[in-house]
Amino acid sequence: MDAEAAHGLAVRTLAGGWIRSGTADDPDNLRVSLWGRDFANPIGLAAGFDKNAEVPDAVLRLGFGFTEVGSVTPKPQPGNPRPRLFRLPEDHAVVNRMGFNNEGLEAVAARLRAREGRPGIVGVNLGKNKESPSAENDYVKGVETLGPFADYLVVNVSSPNTPGLRALQGKAPLRELLEAVGRAVGGLEKDPKPPLLLKVAPDLTNDDKADIAEVTLETGIDGLIATNTTIERPASLQGVARAEAGGLSGRPLFDPSTRVLADFHRLTGGKLPLVGVGGVASGADAYAKIRAGATLVQLYTGLVYGGPGLVGRIKRDLAALLERDGFKSVADAVGTGA
Ligand code: FNR
Repeated sequence: MDAEAAHGLAVRTLAGGWIRSGTADDPDNLRVSLWGRDFANPIGLAAGFDKNAEVPDAVLRLGFGFTEVGSVTPKPQPGNPRPRLFRLPEDHAVVNRMGFNNEGLEAVAARLRAREGRPGIVGVNLGKNKESPSAENDYVKGVETLGPFADYLVVNVSSPNTPGLRALQGKAPLRELLEAVGRAVGGLEKDPKPPLLLKVAPDLTNDDKADIAEVTLETGIDGLIATNTTIERPASLQGVARAEAGGLSGRPLFDPSTRVLADFHRLTGGKLPLVGVGGVASGADAYAKIRAGATLVQLYTGLVYGGPGLVGRIKRDLAALLERDGFKSVADAVGTGA
């Protein structure tokens, strides 16, 4: 089946409510308390799967400790022409150049409004329209429209498929952007305010990383998500789609994204909560992200190859690994291998 058709089928299956396992039986050592919220487990679904908030509750019923909808842009936009999503099965990887196809802030706000008050942690990932003259205005609009419904907000400046987007990771533009977005969060009536996170690319120089760490600490944002997909193509790739333009995710991203995560753990002195994402497909992978500095872990591509049973397997194996090494909780293990 075409990869994007398979994705559509997965979303519809979830929406039909066919699959459930939940978090009720999660072991105590997987519990995470962060930003004043209690996560039943640290394993979340990464942005890009449920771009339009069609299935957050069904995703949570799969056993995820949290889910992240988006990226959402102010106006609806179609994204790039198809095909734009490619599987590399030999590599347990995916290349995508979706280009922020999504229904826009109003459609997503309507769905999130309709589920208000339901349990489960739902983050909202914000992007900018391809043709927008002002990135800052786009993210501020995102905060204003979806902040009221978000358990946390993400400024995504790391997708490789929107021209110019990743340049917002530069020191001066990033500071300006995070200050403006921070003011918008401060202006929300919601109490407490949703925590504000920045999602970064894996393809950063050491200077880029030092600058980003400095700006995040200065502006007082609440966390970093490391990382988005990579524009690099490791020489090991076998899949015929390896030469397609776009961002690579899955197994080949595990090592580079974990190194970036560990770099940010060190550069922020362990003071900033980090979300580790990139190539997670097992309990051991999730554990490695935590030991590199992640308090929470996300995945997307692993689900493509591992299926819906993956979440339960990861939780079971992660709980056993923590116990084996004498950690009473996820928090005790964070950064111990960095
Ligand atoms: C993504 N990802 C993504 N990230 C984001 O911040 N906004 C988005 O809209 C999307 N869209 C998207 C679509 C598709 C098809 C894929 C495969 C990925 C990136 C995703 O959230 C994650 O950071 C990377 O995929 C790395 O994690 P995995 O997939 O290796 O677990």
